[in-house]
Formats: sequence, structure tokens, C-alpha cells
Amino acid sequence: MTLVPLEFPESWRLTIIEPVADTGLAKVWKAKMPDGTLVALKLYHKTDRGNEAPGARLLARWQNYGAVRIIAEQGKAVLMKWLDGPSLGDIARGGSPGKASELLAEVARSLHAKPQVEPTSLMDLSAVFASLFNCGFSQDCPETLKRDMVRAISIARFLLDTQSGSVPLHGDLHHDNVIQTSDGLRVIDAKGYYGDPAFELANALRHPKGLPHLVRQPEQLNRCVALYSAAMDVQAKRLVQWAAAKCALSIVWRSNGEIVQDPEANLLNQFLRAADQ
Ligand SMILES: Nc1ncnc2c1ncn2[C@@H]1O[C@H](COP(=O)(O)OP(=O)(O)O)[C@@H](O)[C@H]1O
Ligand SMILES: [Mg+2]
Repeated sequence: MTLVPLEFPESWRLTIIEPVADTGLAKVWKAKMPDGTLVALKLYHKTDRGNEAPGARLLARWQNYGAVRIIAEQGKAVLMKWLDGPSLGDIARGGSPGKASELLAEVARSLHAKPQVEPTSLMDLSAVFASLFNCGFSQDCPETLKRDMVRAISIARFLLDTQSGSVPLHGDLHHDNVIQTSDGLRVIDAKGYYGDPAFELANALRHPKGLPHLVRQPEQLNRCVALYSAAMDVQAKRLVQWAAAKCALSIVWRSNGEIVQDPEANLLNQFLRAADQ
């Protein structure tokens, strides 16, 4: 085995304790500062942090509203306070999905409490959605998925053209990015977007991860749409429209250029039908 040195500033003087997570963009390590404080070190593979750099800055600005404390950031590395406790995803998978969604709505309210933080250097939603408008279909793509994608693309165009009251957005606010600590709920892993507040909890309708049957239950969908639209003070219809648009965007991101089939094809169809109501 080759040991690759971890790229973080020496001045942080960290003692690495253990690896915690390894995902596409980054690895997360549990570590200790010289004074004994436990921290999470998120080390991105690339210096541009896969376009997540604005996210850490937004979390820092959201310090007093429910975000994790960002201690330092430099290059590929972000250092934050270690959070002990289950994620809302764990709470949902442990048998309390209703409670988990209520807590998610609560933390969203807290992040978006007035006064709002400065929107500097955040990525506009129109830039986030750009790849949706250039998507291609394989000859083997089922007609239903193709039709639903075309519909979602036109909804996304409509939503982007009619945004009003743009705000800073976490951009990836779902159950597994919120941790319940003894000090309260703490949000991690922001993208740092800017745009329609109705976007913020739309993507959460695709979560919690690992509970695909629950996410597709009509009563669950209706309950979460009501909960999330009230928390963000936005129209329920617009929130579901954003869910369809983001679900379609995720299908494009997973597609490798040409859409063939996707495990969320049926969820996209469900969001589109809900948006028609
Ligand atoms: N500050 C933290 N304290 C404790 N665990 C953390 C912290 N930050 C991240 N983690 C753990 O690492 C996982 C991945 O980190 P996250 O920032 O959400 O990256 P990803 O983009 O891979 O989802 C989280 O789901 C959580 O389990
Ligand atoms: Mg995450």
C-alpha cells in the first residue's frame, strides 16, 4: 500500500484520527487540533473543489443560523468542527422519517431567517442548470422518459425565467447533510447557489437516501411538499416544479452524455404529475 500525504496546511498541525467518508469529490477525515478539539477535514481531489468552494464560504456566513463552524479553508482543504450525532438521514432510516423531515424543515427556516447573508460569489441557478438544456438521448431511451425529460426541461426554463426574490441557497439541503448534535441541528456540505427560494428544499423530495419506496409514496410526497413549502414560504406548486427540474438535472449528470434509462425515471414522472395538480 502506498501512503499518499494528505494535502492540508502544516500550520493546522492536525493529528489524523480516521477516515470518515469517501465520495466522488472529496474524502472526509476525523482529526484533532493541538488543543484537542475534534475536527472534520474535508479534502477535495481538485483545487476548484468541484465547484463547491462557494459552499464553505456560505456555511461560514451562516454560522449563527445553523451551519457547521468552518474553522479554516485553504486550497483543496476545508477544516470544520466535528459534529457528533446522527444525521437526519440516519434518523429517517432508523424508523422516524416524519420527524426527520420536520427537522429538515426547521433547519431550513433557521438558515433562511432574516437578515439574509451576502450573496457574493455564489453560483446562479441558471449556471447550475445549464447542462440540462444540452442533454442527449440514446436510441434505447424509453419514450416515456424522453417525454418526461423534455417536459422537465421546459419547466426548468420557465422557472429560471420567472425567478423573483433570489436568495443565497445551500443548494444540497437534504437529510444526510444535516446532523443533530447536542447543541442543535447543524448543516454541512453546501454548494453555495443563488436563486429562487423554492429551489432550496425541492431536491429534498428525492431524499432520504436508501428509502426509495417511502420517497415514492404519494402521501409522503404530499406531506413533505406541504412541510417544505411552508418552511421556505414558497408556493407548493413551484417547489414540486423545481423537484422535477432538479430530478431531470440529476438524470443528466448521471447519464454520461446520452440518457438511456435511470432509476429515478419513475420519480421524475411522479413529480411531473404532482406539478400538474
Ligand atoms: N463536520 C462534520 N462532522 C462529522 N461528520 C462529518 C462532518 N462533515 C462531514 N461529515 C461526514 O462525512 C460525510 C460526507 O461529508 P459531506 O460534506 O456531506 O460530503 P459529500 O459531498 O460527500 O456528501 C457526511 O455525510 C458525514 O457523515
Ligand atoms: Mg453530503
